[in-house]
Amino acid sequence: MTQFSTPDVRLRPFVSADAPRLAEIANNKKVSDNLRDGFPHPYTLADAENFIKKFVGQEPATVFAIEYNGEYVGNIGLHQGTDVYRKSAEIGYFLGESYWNKGIMTQAVKLITEYGFKNLDIVRIYTGVFEYNQASQHVLEKCGYTKEAILKKAICKNGQIWDEVRYGKVKEE
Ligand SMILES: CC(C)(COP(=O)(O)OP(=O)(O)OC[C@H]1O[C@@H](n2cnc3c(N)ncnc32)[C@H](O)[C@@H]1OP(=O)(O)O)[C@@H](O)C(=O)NCCC(=O)NCCS
Repeated sequence: MTQFSTPDVRLRPFVSADAPRLAEIANNKKVSDNLRDGFPHPYTLADAENFIKKFVGQEPATVFAIEYNGEYVGNIGLHQGTDVYRKSAEIGYFLGESYWNKGIMTQAVKLITEYGFKNLDIVRIYTGVFEYNQASQHVLEKCGYTKEAILKKAICKNGQIWDEVRYGKVKEE
């Protein structure tokens, strides 16, 4: 089983029994406001079960449950591109609100970035952050990601238009 950790944060594959807890931590507008509309609100148990069944037994594992001191608190994943983007992966993540600002995602992003460059055939990891999401931008900067571009008015979220801030990190040779 692929898993890796710091002393208090562990990334591990999903198990079916994670679904109720995922529904609990994901069903929060403060979380979904920072994510694509494919992450629904409200977030139901059926949404959680459908998500998890895509990744149970995934090989190689690219999407993980984040555990903090043994408790399942969020998700993090790498989504590899296709065609000319096949050597790049998009990183995505969220944490249940009661666990914010404890440094958990900074540790999780560092772990999955190192894992991705070692174990997947990729040379670049990137993501786009909504302009108002300062916490996520801060996490990426703490993990050595570079602010590469601001895509003006790229995002339509909750009926409003926002800039997208693109971050990337390339594999060191
Ligand atoms: C964004 C998110 C993943 C951050 O996770 P986290 O574990 O709280 O992040 P960390 O504690 O590792 O680091 C957050 C940093 O941002 C800072 N921060 C938090 N809110 C901030 C704000 N409103 N403005 C500026 N900085 C802020 C914190 O102080 C901390 O920096 P520090 O370590 O220098 O003090 C979490 O808030 C979350 O899941 N949000 C909802 C989903 C989401 O945004 N996903 C990412 C989409 S791109």
